[in-house]
Amino acid sequence: MPDLSHVSQPDLRRALGQFATGIAVVTARHEGRSVGMTISSFTSLSMEPPLVLWSLRDNARSRAVFEAAQGFAISVLSESQSGIAAHFARGHADPFADVETIAAASGLPLIAGALAHFDCRTDRIYDGGDHRILIGRVSALSVDEGRPLVFFASRFSHGVVPMEVASHA
Ligand SMILES: Cc1cc2nc3c(=O)[nH]c(=O)nc-3n(C[C@H](O)[C@H](O)[C@H](O)COP(=O)(O)O)c2cc1C
Repeated sequence: MPDLSHVSQPDLRRALGQFATGIAVVTARHEGRSVGMTISSFTSLSMEPPLVLWSLRDNARSRAVFEAAQGFAISVLSESQSGIAAHFARGHADPFADVETIAAASGLPLIAGALAHFDCRTDRIYDGGDHRILIGRVSALSVDEGRPLVFFASRFSHGVVPMEVASHA
């Protein structure tokens, strides 16, 4: 393994890109302003209590809304939703104008047709280098069948084929 005393950003990105993730859109609202953002940092944290987390880059334009909002809503995208992922990776004056949404119990917008939805109350926010780590307590959810949109090696992929694995439960 090469010397890692000087980790360059391109090397770090390339190595982290080998870790395949799903893709989600996170939404929030504060004082009438609704925001939505494509994220790959969404992950599970705790079963009891039910907690999830994601990280928000410090220089995101929507940062103030995500930090001030009481909660956030997560939509886990399906393999047919790469267009939605690309849409919410760019800043928009009215991000939900041309996107089909449904309302979470909290009233936050969720992406229609997503594989899973999580309605979350913000539990804690931590510093994490050039990102903030937002932890949410899940207050409602929904699950649908389908195949996920995957982010791998800086690209969207689909075609995840489930295989049998020994259960560790
Ligand atoms: C595949 C993918 C994953 C991303 N994951 C994150 C993430 O986990 N956290 C984050 O802050 N930005 C992430 N981004 C960048 C945001 O989507 C993008 O900066 C944001 O939508 C712009 O929002 P802004 O208008 O608030 O600056 C990701 C972008 C892409 C394409």
